[in-house]
Amino acid sequence: MLIKIIDPTAAREHEVTPQALYLDRRRLMASTARSMIAAGVSGVSGLMSSMAFAAKAYEKVPKGSPFDTNEALTPFKDVTSYNNFYEFGTDKGDPKINSGSLKPRPWKITVDGEVEKPTSFDIDDFIKTQKLEERIYRLRCVEAWSMVIPWIGFPLADVIKAARPTRKAKFVAFTTLLDPVQMPGQKSKILDWPYTEGLRLDEASHPLAFLAVGLYGDMLPNQSGAPLRLVVPWKYGFKSIKSIVKITFTSTQPKTTWNIMAPDEYGFYSNVNPNVDHPRWSQGKERRIGELFKRKTLMFNGYDQVASLYTGLDLKKNF
Ligand code: MTE
Repeated sequence: MLIKIIDPTAAREHEVTPQALYLDRRRLMASTARSMIAAGVSGVSGLMSSMAFAAKAYEKVPKGSPFDTNEALTPFKDVTSYNNFYEFGTDKGDPKINSGSLKPRPWKITVDGEVEKPTSFDIDDFIKTQKLEERIYRLRCVEAWSMVIPWIGFPLADVIKAARPTRKAKFVAFTTLLDPVQMPGQKSKILDWPYTEGLRLDEASHPLAFLAVGLYGDMLPNQSGAPLRLVVPWKYGFKSIKSIVKITFTSTQPKTTWNIMAPDEYGFYSNVNPNVDHPRWSQGKERRIGELFKRKTLMFNGYDQVASLYTGLDLKKNF
């Protein structure tokens, strides 16, 4: 059955990553800074200095956000070579190999729907207004596997505040670029393109809902969702939509890609919940990339701060 072939979460044995090498952060950051300078990354000087600043700060700031974890970071190599991004293929190694066709600059993001201030902005103009050096979030992300990633970005709430949702706004919908030339995977019908996702407005406004523009002190590589992606660490990874071009405020629950594909398997909420099995596998354990043995998955991926968002909601029905 098609759905089995395109399952985003099943970790196959041949994909098990070898024991991760010890990561020398200082060396990595120094080489990142050097390669940015050598390559003249982005050509947008303001952005580059902002990002380089973030890279410097990344070394100095022991804690970047109130949600930071002290767990070992997943090596950069694994973070950027084991990805799901079906616009570039369905194997975990495909996005790194195939995503060179994506042109993440210039990039416009439209904010529309139930807002007082519909707008569209250029990603670099927006980044220049952000103090990215203060915006480093070391967060756990989980599917059947898990990673700890030092993201750079800003709370989604900042965009929400600026857009001024109307009283009718109850949800926020996100849309990925639709361009089969840049994203050749869209030439096949494996998913209902463009990829879309959504959150309830109160979920989207929680300070842990995050828009990432970089990781490990550098701009997002294409395979990680350049130039702008969502990170919702208390939900399964597929909620974290990549290469966003549109943020739309709606009064009704938006359609989401995986829910359209397999409504019995992927709900709208998709909160990490070890007590609710996926119809085809247990969700009680995860494989941290670089570790040999599986570990127990925590409710909300350990981010208990979000629990109050779901008071009174049956999380077995609303999976
Ligand atoms: N966003 C788009 N546009 N297309 C995708 O195929 N895959 C999702 C999510 N966002 C996906 C996407 C899935 S299934 C996962 S697990 C995460 O991205 C993977 O993100 P990662 O590259 O950070 O591991």
